Amino acid sequence: MTTTRTVTVGVDGSDSALDAVRWAAEEVRLRGGRLRLVHAESPLFDAPDLERRVRTALREASWRVVREAAEVVDPLVELEVHVEVGGPAQVLAAESAHAGLLVLGTRGLGGFASLAVGSTAIAVTSHAACPVVVVRGDKPNRPGPVVVGVHGDPHSVPVLAKAFAEASARGVGVVAVHTWHPVVGDVVALSAGIDLAEYDALHGGRLARLVSPWRTKYRDVPVELVVDRGSASTVLLERAEDAALVVVGGRGRNSLTGLLLGSTSHALLHHAPCPVMVVHAPSEDA
Ligand SMILES: Nc1ncnc2c1ncn2[C@@H]1O[C@H](COP(=O)(O)OP(=O)(O)OP(=O)(O)O)[C@@H](O)[C@H]1O
Ligand SMILES: [Mg+2]
Repeated sequence: MTTTRTVTVGVDGSDSALDAVRWAAEEVRLRGGRLRLVHAESPLFDAPDLERRVRTALREASWRVVREAAEVVDPLVELEVHVEVGGPAQVLAAESAHAGLLVLGTRGLGGFASLAVGSTAIAVTSHAACPVVVVRGDKPNRPGPVVVGVHGDPHSVPVLAKAFAEASARGVGVVAVHTWHPVVGDVVALSAGIDLAEYDALHGGRLARLVSPWRTKYRDVPVELVVDRGSASTVLLERAEDAALVVVGGRGRNSLTGLLLGSTSHALLHHAPCPVMVVHAPSEDA
């Protein structure tokens, strides 16, 4: 049985999925719980006219994928493996209902070589019921702070909760980033007698208030607050250069677009140099 203490990884035989396994095994080592490796086997397996030996070969290939993934896990980590027939996005989204965290590689065995992130990773990140980590970058477990994007709305609460819990487990700091868009540029603001720095200070105050309960809860975690003007993706990508992990919400305030993933999470999933955690607000899942 799976529980919220379970960290589930999708494995498909790719190197990228093995990086995801390495990241997830370290997560379990640091935070406890159990690691679950899941492979979604092609639904062709269910076709009634397939020869028995083709079915057997497919099943053997599936178990080879999970066995090879299990080999990169420290034997002290509690581990279970599972093969499920179905499309990878459907199987993994269903897994997310019983997992505390779902971990994926950026790419798999399919797709165009030039794609930065595959369709399974995007679909699962959009639809998962639990937080998802897409393991980007050359080194899955690299040092550095946890960078978190704070929109400044109530959706920031579960995002900050995850960021601080990860930072505390890793013994690193949190860099909390909030950006805002001035409706006028510097020159117009100056001629209208508007001091944009005053607005920076207002946003800074709001960010400090949002972070304050987490500072109190995690006194061991050093915090840096960053307020900047412009695009959240640009600033988060800059800050992610030295980060161990970047944590963002699934959607920002532009949820009326109907998209399940906002532009910030999209940009990070495509370009971040480190693993990206996407945390959907509970109300978004409802
Ligand atoms: N069949 C599968 N079973 C389990 N996990 C999978 C499966 N396919 C993909 N994944 C997970 O999703 C991650 C990203 O793979 P994805 O399928 O998105 O990329 P791709 O194969 O390069 O592109 P695409 O499938 O869009 O052609 C993998 O690293 C792995 O963690
Ligand atoms: Mg694929």
